[in-house]
Amino acid sequence: MDKFVIRGGRRLEGEVVISGAKNAAVAILPAVILSDEPCIIENVPSISDVNICLQILEEMGADVRSVGKDAYLIDPTSINKVCVPYEYARKMRASYYFLGALLGKFNKARVSMPGGCPLGDRPIDQHLKAFSALGAEYTLSQGMIDLKADKLRGSQIFFDVVTVGATMNAMLAAVKAEGLTIIENAAKEPHIVDLANFLNSMGANIMGAGTDVIKVRGVDKLYGTTYSVIPDQIEAGTFMVAIAATKGDAIVKNIIPKHLESITKKLEKIGVNIEQYDDSMRVWVDGPLVKANIKTAPHPGFPTDMQSQIATLLTLAEGTSIITENIWEQRFRYVDELRRMGADITVNGKIALIEGTGKLMGAPVKACDLRAGAALIIAGLAASGVTEIEDIFHIERGYDCMEGKLRAMGADIEKVSVPDKPNAKSENTKAAV
Ligand code: EPZ
Repeated sequence: MDKFVIRGGRRLEGEVVISGAKNAAVAILPAVILSDEPCIIENVPSISDVNICLQILEEMGADVRSVGKDAYLIDPTSINKVCVPYEYARKMRASYYFLGALLGKFNKARVSMPGGCPLGDRPIDQHLKAFSALGAEYTLSQGMIDLKADKLRGSQIFFDVVTVGATMNAMLAAVKAEGLTIIENAAKEPHIVDLANFLNSMGANIMGAGTDVIKVRGVDKLYGTTYSVIPDQIEAGTFMVAIAATKGDAIVKNIIPKHLESITKKLEKIGVNIEQYDDSMRVWVDGPLVKANIKTAPHPGFPTDMQSQIATLLTLAEGTSIITENIWEQRFRYVDELRRMGADITVNGKIALIEGTGKLMGAPVKACDLRAGAALIIAGLAASGVTEIEDIFHIERGYDCMEGKLRAMGADIEKVSVPDKPNAKSENTKAAV
């Protein structure tokens, strides 16, 4: 078991280069299955969720080769299994993208239900609704989801909630279905557009990604392509907040500023200076930080995946801030850990009230999910004294060498191996986010 040890109080300076987007990569890698030829995927982040995706592809028979830094050549033509077993699915929530990709290619799929989850109830009813609309039948038994269809046919799909995963899965399943599929009340996140762009670069016919109506006209065949994953909007936002929390001054590189608008606007309101360039931003703080009210919402609203990080920044600001979490019911679990570091936060249902105390103190804490872990790193960087963060495997699922990037910006952070406690559960048996 590894942990991060952070000696706080150092300003972040210099620059950081943002990696490819986790939530785009974990959909694009399964989407390669739909191609009849090999594909090269570039700007793939080095994170454990990506490793699991690549392992699943290999396990199914695909030929996966690393072809230079952050790039993989994947030949899906040798795939001879349509099953994702529990041992993989339990480690990564996004294993559900194999359902849409396998169904779209082979008219059948067998994927273990994604493991239990620390964000509260995470239903997949909208995914199943989309597959059914396209003509597939599903059965759920012994923890496995089985899908099969004689033929997939284009259809109208109206989502009852705005859902990233089901929107992606509907596109994956519809891309080779006969005729036109219209997906309404679709999610609009940058990774939705990235998946559509990738599929179109293989010869798909998808229009409207990034709006709430996506039209997919089915094609017979998809071809090999070379495609580069977009930069990670949430990794970029996390570093922006970390720079602000340490009252630092640094450049965040390899970003798409448009994807960061809701984050940038809130940070400016809090008192953070931001200067935008074509594909980078300078972020710095030279005055007081002030309270803000934030409500999470689907894109283009403020992302739930940045909620814990900005809450941490608000503990350092003047005044009382209010955060409303509208997406995940259990996304305030990090609050107990921040309290151990001196934060004054009261949670009532989906609302958190943050009394800015202006300071945090180092403490031993535990990451309870990916973004909670990122928030604790930010807290540790800003706090006085030493912070030790356990269960960092959550952080490594989604951040590409976070400690190395922070160290290069002047942070005092190291990864330390500690022997497993007797009877401790191994990280692999814990639930995926
Ligand atoms: C994606 O999860 C992300 N994961 C999450 O990022 C992110 O928090 C979330 O979108 C929201 O932006 C990946 O992309 C792999 P949803 P997803 O379907 O697709 C309800 C991170 O930190 N819903 O958009 O699983 C659901 O309960 C992770 O990187 C249904 O009711 O989320 C939630 O309230 C964590 N039925 C809302 O929709 C369904 O069938 C949005 O969920 C599906 C979802």
